[in-house]
Amino acid sequence: MAVPTKVKVVEVGPRDGLQNEKEFVPTDIKIELVNRLTAAGFQNVEATSFVSPKWVPQMADATQVMGSIQRKPGTVYSVLTPNMRGFEGALAARADEVVIFGAASEAFSQKNINCSIEESIDRFAPVAQAAKEAGIRLRGSISCALGCPYQGDVPVESVVYVAQRFIELGCDEVDVADTIGVATASQVYRVMSAVAEKVDPARIAGHFHDTYGQALANIHASLQAGIAIYHSSVAGLGGCPYAKGATGNVATEDVLYMLHGMGIETGIDLEAVITTGQWISDFLQRPNGSRAGKALINKRAAVCA
Ligand code: HMG
Ligand code: MG
Repeated sequence: MAVPTKVKVVEVGPRDGLQNEKEFVPTDIKIELVNRLTAAGFQNVEATSFVSPKWVPQMADATQVMGSIQRKPGTVYSVLTPNMRGFEGALAARADEVVIFGAASEAFSQKNINCSIEESIDRFAPVAQAAKEAGIRLRGSISCALGCPYQGDVPVESVVYVAQRFIELGCDEVDVADTIGVATASQVYRVMSAVAEKVDPARIAGHFHDTYGQALANIHASLQAGIAIYHSSVAGLGGCPYAKGATGNVATEDVLYMLHGMGIETGIDLEAVITTGQWISDFLQRPNGSRAGKALINKRAAVCA
């Protein structure tokens, strides 16, 4: 399989990156984060979630965020919608893409969305139909596709099954997600290749959390399997509230540094992302989680000194 020469990097920091923050992040900071990322050139920014605020309080201001961001024509602003209530919120807020999110692990499905895999797919069907009728893009995210905090190993057949069901529902893209960041490269290559046998590889995305420091290697392995869409989070922010111990997504700056170094085009301004990564880390008062971001900021400081 030829390695792609162009890759779509989907910035998920405003959603996956912030959803687990204990302190409520002010709405104007969330809006500024989305605006800065838009300006950096992402084609797709996952902006927020229309989920129950009892389950994820940090995303309670989804309507306000979507109402005040400065949209760039052509940029896709995605939001998570677990049910029709979420979809209606997303539609009213003029989301460009809605994301239904299931799991390849039965145990995680129960913890994250309070129902079985089969029930979740039934629950997603009206959301999928409504999205198609409204002409909104639809994405399906498959959590715990490479390991589960509750059940351990996840059969590859389950991942392929959920991916196929999502495509049948009309998903434009399906995300193979390593929610707890445990996978290693050969496993990722096997799982991505198995999904790509049944689903058009152009519709498959890799969503890697970096808990065990394997995410870049896993993206590299996925590239060899022909996968050309990756999710990442500025400054490596994040973690899932229902996957204890899981750390953030792979840092966007690290992904861009690797892809650009490999001669793969993304259309994204790495320097602008680095500045944004440091800005949001400073705001949250935590160390910048991007290795490339930190190194390049140190280099800037050295040049200025
Ligand atoms: P439930 O408790 O089974 O369902 O939750 P419910 O229908 O009984 O609703 C509970 C309450 O929430 C009710 O309020 C509803 O009205 C309200 P009450 O009557 O008690 O006052 N409600 C809503 N409010 C606002 N927006 C909505 C909505 N729906 C219900 N859309 C439910 C089921 C799916 C709603 C819940 O489990 C939920 O919201 N889960 C969200 C979990 C979540 O957001 N997890 C993190 C995102 S997934 C992720 O991070 C993984 C990913 O990154 C990939 C990876 O890394 O693996 C994508
Ligand atoms: Mg995630």
